[in-house]
Amino acid sequence: MRIYVSKDYEEMSKKAANIVAAQIYLRPNSVIGLATGSTPLLMYQELVRLHKEEGLDFSEVVTFNLDEYIGLPERDVNSYHYYMHNQFFNHINIRRDNIHIPNGMASNIDKECVDYERLIMVQGGIDLQVLGIGKNGHIGFNEPDVKFETATHRVKLDEETINANARFFQCIEQVPQYAISMGIKTIMHAKKVLLLANGSAKAEAVFKSVYGGITPETPASILQLHQDVTMVLDEGGAQMLGRSLANYNIDNALNRLQAQA
Ligand code: PGA
Repeated sequence: MRIYVSKDYEEMSKKAANIVAAQIYLRPNSVIGLATGSTPLLMYQELVRLHKEEGLDFSEVVTFNLDEYIGLPERDVNSYHYYMHNQFFNHINIRRDNIHIPNGMASNIDKECVDYERLIMVQGGIDLQVLGIGKNGHIGFNEPDVKFETATHRVKLDEETINANARFFQCIEQVPQYAISMGIKTIMHAKKVLLLANGSAKAEAVFKSVYGGITPETPASILQLHQDVTMVLDEGGAQMLGRSLANYNIDNALNRLQAQA
């Protein structure tokens, strides 16, 4: 696991955008997994700038979003469809048919989940998956649980997640209770993972994900078993890791297990 500690949100976002851009320069037809929420907003702005000012070309890029609320139409300002088009897709040269976001309005949600998972496989899997992290350690909408959910699935959102997301809605009753989310296996099959976290509210979740036991109670802790994870944090997000960790390579748990074998 590589961890970069940036001085602030802006620097974190530029670093993250550069990592995504590097992936696209190296493989123009990359399959990129995308996240929503407050965390990646400035990363998207920087990617739009790289497209407009430096010619970063998205014409062959394929994207898969991590999740979507169930029951919000695409035009609803709180849907992740709306967010992605508004913040990112409308400002770059991505082909509309290369954009994939789970359909939270599907009449058969179970089928939608199976189809989404199959589409990812048909595209050869995800090359680089961008993740935020919840205060409760969730990735995508994989909430703390007694087991790891594997493939794309329907989720009942945690009370904490509903409270956290209520800031975008007029009242908490409007926050959907259910969502479709890629599963832990979907995320773990991505060839590379890029996790972003800023602000001290995320510090404990980051700490547990890096140093805690690998447990579905902290879903992001499973990333310790992934071969290629880069975390880009700001100082707030990294504050429980300790200063000595800045820009440091941490052996992941897989390497440690292999070393013991
Ligand atoms: P945030 O959400 O970026 O809005 O903090 C991240 C997440 O819940 O995964």
